[in-house]
Formats: sequence, structure tokens, C-alpha cells
Amino acid sequence: MRSAGVGSPVLMERDDELRILTDVLARAADGDGEAVVVRGPAGIGKTSLLEALAQRNEQFRTCRYRGRDSEAGQPFAAMVGLLDQAVFDTDPAVFRGASALSLPLFFEGERTDLHEFQLLHGLHWLTISLSEQRPLLLIVDDAQLADPQSLRFLRYLADRLAGHPIAVVVAARSATPAPPELDELTGAAHRRLEPQPLSPDATRDLVATLSGLDDHALDVVLPALTERTGGNPFYVCEFARHLAARGARLDEVPATIVESTDRRLATVGRAARSIAVAAATLGESAALGDIVELARVSTAEATSAIDELIGSELLDPTDPRHFRHPLLRDAVAGTVPPVIDSTSHFVPHS
Ligand SMILES: Nc1ncnc2c1ncn2[C@@H]1O[C@H](COP(=O)(O)OP(=O)(O)OP(=O)(O)O)[C@@H](O)[C@H]1O
Ligand SMILES: [Mg+2]
Repeated sequence: MRSAGVGSPVLMERDDELRILTDVLARAADGDGEAVVVRGPAGIGKTSLLEALAQRNEQFRTCRYRGRDSEAGQPFAAMVGLLDQAVFDTDPAVFRGASALSLPLFFEGERTDLHEFQLLHGLHWLTISLSEQRPLLLIVDDAQLADPQSLRFLRYLADRLAGHPIAVVVAARSATPAPPELDELTGAAHRRLEPQPLSPDATRDLVATLSGLDDHALDVVLPALTERTGGNPFYVCEFARHLAARGARLDEVPATIVESTDRRLATVGRAARSIAVAAATLGESAALGDIVELARVSTAEATSAIDELIGSELLDPTDPRHFRHPLLRDAVAGTVPPVIDSTSHFVPHS
């Protein structure tokens, strides 16, 4: 039997990682800060781990940031994005002493005349001042997209966390072109986590939960699904969603994420397909108006096309300029990163 509903899954086989992260928080709360770097291929579950962490940290002031393509060339953009809310929420006294060196980053926009070391030093003291009020948890996701100066700062901070209630948790894709500063930060981290693909048993449980398939149907689909996903949770979830869709046939486990996405796009109308391709082409920072213009659809068509794409779980309901997952955008744009491109990894045996 198939269930129509597709809920969000619980994290499977991540007990060790969560235990380590919980331990890092406990130590930081006691004044012994550490930096953790989570590395792994696209879709392995790095963001999901960070989400789980962000939900168990009541004691901390939490600052979160996600790297973006558009900001990689702006010095310290990631650190300003990470800390600006905390800065604006806080007493200006936080900028006393050496912290003041970081003031121009927050209040004067882009400045090219400042010496990098002064900014590193200023940001370092700013984070220490913030942590004096309440333990501080800094979470940076998609750090492969962060600017090099911010990565150098995180590394600088990682070397100076002892004795301070600050936990730094950074996640980044492995096997994706990344600035050398990311590897230096990874090397300097106190702990490194590399979440692994799900086991065949966990894959089965996840597919059962998401697709509602019965035991017999699971027996039919799992050999191909396990092989084609390699236990990568993103792939498992996407293929399970495909199988949960009305009309999908059990002998039709998609061979690749591109194929799975193409099949989903084939079920929506022409305007929706154009919107999806335009959104994938223009990227996350595009304005909705530009997406609609590139797609060459009318405003009325665009509204129902977007609803259709949200309904088929391609676009994010909270911000329809974005795909529900960056890998879906990559699949539509035809730029799936090589490490998980099924043409190299998950081609079915003939
Ligand atoms: N341990 C897990 N158990 C079950 N589902 C998981 C697990 N980890 C991740 N998922 C699911 O897999 C999908 C991909 O996970 P996530 O977005 O965390 O990957 P990622 O490593 O951050 O990918 P990217 O590098 O593209 O950002 C999510 O939809 C998530 O719900
Ligand atoms: Mg992610």
C-alpha cells in the first residue's frame, strides 16, 4: 500500500555524530570552546546534523549562516552575515576594547582600506565579548562558498577557543572546488566529522517511512534503490518520494537524480517547467521578477506555475525562488556535482 503523505524523516544512524556535537556543546558551556568541521559529499546530511544541533542548545546564543555563491568575493561577508543579528541585538558596549576594530565591518559597509589582521583581531574580541553574556554557538553551513577572509577568521578563532564558552560548528561539501582556507580550517578543527552513507537496513526503514510501500514492494525496489543511491540520504529521500508519487511503477526506480527530477518536471505544465529552469539558471539570489521574465510567462501563469512546482516538491514553499534542496537546483540546471552525479557513480549495471 502507498501512502500519499511524505513526512520529514528523523535522522538515522547519526547517534555518534550527535553525541560528539552534544559533548562539544557541554564542554563549551563549561568554558572550554572547540571547533568542529563536518565534511561530506552533497546530500550526505550535513545541514540536517546542524539543524538537529541548533535544536538542542537552549543555553547558547546561536548565530547561523549559510554560504552563498554571490558572497564568495566579498571579504568577511560570511562573518558579517553570521554575527550581525547578535551585534544589533546587543548592548553597544560589546564593541569596547579591541572589538571596536571590527566596527567598520558592521557599520560602514565594504571597506578596502582596513588591514586584515586588525579585522581578525577585532572579530576575535567581538566573539569573546558576545560569549561573556551567554555561551555562543556559531554555525556556518555550506562553508565551501564562504569568502576566504571569513574562513581565515574561523581558523584564527579555532586556535583561540580554549577558556572561552564558544562552540564553532562548520559544515562544507567535500570533493567540491573550495578555497584552500577551508582545508586549513578543517585541519585546525578540534574534531572532524564525516557522516557516512546509510546502511541498507536504514535505507529500507527510510524508504518505508517516506513511501509507505509494504514489505513486498520494498523487496522489489530496494536492490536497485540501494545501488543507485549508495545510501546517500538525499537520494534515498528523493527516490522514495518518487515511489510514493501516484502512478510510479515499482520497476521504475530512477537511475539518476537528473532522471528523477526530469520525470517530476514532466508531470508539471509548460509554464512551470520554464519557471523551474529559469530559477535554476539564475540561482538563489535572483529576484522573482527576473525568473518570471526569463521564463517568458505571464504573471498569472507564473503564480499557478509556482504553486504547481511547490506541490511537486521542487520549489521551497517558504521562498519559491529557491529549490527545496540545492541538489534539485543542480539537477534542473544540469550541474550536479561530480561526486554524486549518477553518470559516474550510480549507473545501473546492464
Ligand atoms: N541521517 C539521515 N536520516 C534520514 N534522512 C536524512 C539523514 N540525513 C539527511 N537526511 C535527508 O537527506 C536530505 C539531504 O540532507 P542534507 O540537506 O542535510 O544534506 P547536505 O549534506 O547538507 O547536502 P548539501 O551538501 O547539498 O548541502 C534531507 O532532505 C534530509 O532530510
Ligand atoms: Mg546542506
